[in-house]
Amino acid sequence: MNDCLPEVSGTWQRVESTLRQVVANYGYQEIRTPIVESTDLFKRSIGEVTDIVEKEMYTFEDRNGDSLTLRPEGTASTVRAGNEHGLLYNQQQRLWYMGPMFRHERPQKGRYRQFHQFGVETYGIDGPDIDVEVILLSARIWKAFGISDQVTLQINSLGSNEARQNYRDALVEYLKARAEKLDEDSLRRMETNPLRVLDSKNPDVQAAIADAPSLLDYLDEESKTHFSNLCERLTQAGIQYQVNSRLVRGLDYYNRTVFEWVTESLGAQGTVCAGGRYDGLVEQLGGKATPAVGFAMGMERLVLLLTTLQATDEDNRAADVYVTSMGVETYALTVAEQLRDSCPELRIMMHCGGGNFKKQLKRADKTGATVAVLLGSDEAEKQLATVKPLRGDGEQETVALSALAEKLAGLVN
Ligand code: HAM
Repeated sequence: MNDCLPEVSGTWQRVESTLRQVVANYGYQEIRTPIVESTDLFKRSIGEVTDIVEKEMYTFEDRNGDSLTLRPEGTASTVRAGNEHGLLYNQQQRLWYMGPMFRHERPQKGRYRQFHQFGVETYGIDGPDIDVEVILLSARIWKAFGISDQVTLQINSLGSNEARQNYRDALVEYLKARAEKLDEDSLRRMETNPLRVLDSKNPDVQAAIADAPSLLDYLDEESKTHFSNLCERLTQAGIQYQVNSRLVRGLDYYNRTVFEWVTESLGAQGTVCAGGRYDGLVEQLGGKATPAVGFAMGMERLVLLLTTLQATDEDNRAADVYVTSMGVETYALTVAEQLRDSCPELRIMMHCGGGNFKKQLKRADKTGATVAVLLGSDEAEKQLATVKPLRGDGEQETVALSALAEKLAGLVN
């Protein structure tokens, strides 16, 4: 679990506000749910035989003896809240959320025990138009951050429950015939959740199952049409994708469309965004049958991508303008406050703690400010301000106080 320190908190703020802006552009509304839910909710939705439920949940008994769990993801809570407050029945909803999630995984770069997801969930539309919309929305997020060339889209269809059951039987038969080549984990999964064997990270297992039957050959007619329509529309929208018939996802609630955006810039934890359709979950959790599709992205992974690929100093500097003074602190205070009135978009930091100009300018430099304002008795007396650019090779200049805001705005932007 990480602290978010000032050297990256500015990047986090930029990420959060850009995400909010993009979802607002698509007409999505925010939903906020509690960080703890009843343990049962996650068991019933994510599935008893998944890594998350078997090994990764932070579960505890509260004082009443109720079993509670720190949410490992946001979809189950969104459905629970939607059912509880009557948001889903006979309606269309386009929702988004952002916040901390908890999984007791082995930590490594891009994988943490408290992490943050930004997610969207839509209800009441059976697609594939809405499948395309959520994928386009995710693509727009990469565009907004200038990282479209760093991520690739993989898609697959899991078909109907029945189709998946047929496929499961065929896959188990295939795996059983190669049991001696599988590792312990895959043998266990073969019994409990055989589709998960397909995304084993073990190269020997991957080699052993290289010619496993393909899920796409088992799709029911409706899912097949849904998937080909989806592919067609993505192509029309100019979104490049790879069909990956091995993509099965680690949560049980999906059917039909599943997708992941992956990057090669982060090492092993390369999935930055993942989601799909989960048409059965609303009913499974006590509501009326309601189609649903959504995704969640790992915000740590997004921030890591941005800090790896781009200079993010701009996001994380404390000040744009640093106000220094000697002997005229009250004048300096008034000048700084006036500037905050007239230039609300600028970060204006006032030097505190005294010292000569040299010492104060050193401090100014550390804040990352682009310009310092110097105020001495001369300036105070004549209502002037001296402006000193701290970056580049601009000249120091003294201007009338009334012209200061305009001068600074020109220098900072
Ligand atoms: P998920 O694949 O479990 O799906 O997680 C989505 C994303 O969250 C991952 O692709 C990854 O970027 C990030 N993530 C997951 N675990 C960690 C971790 N331990 N540390 C850092 N980042 C992590 C879901 O959670 C589904 N609820 C997505 C969804 C929404 N499907 C439909 N709607």
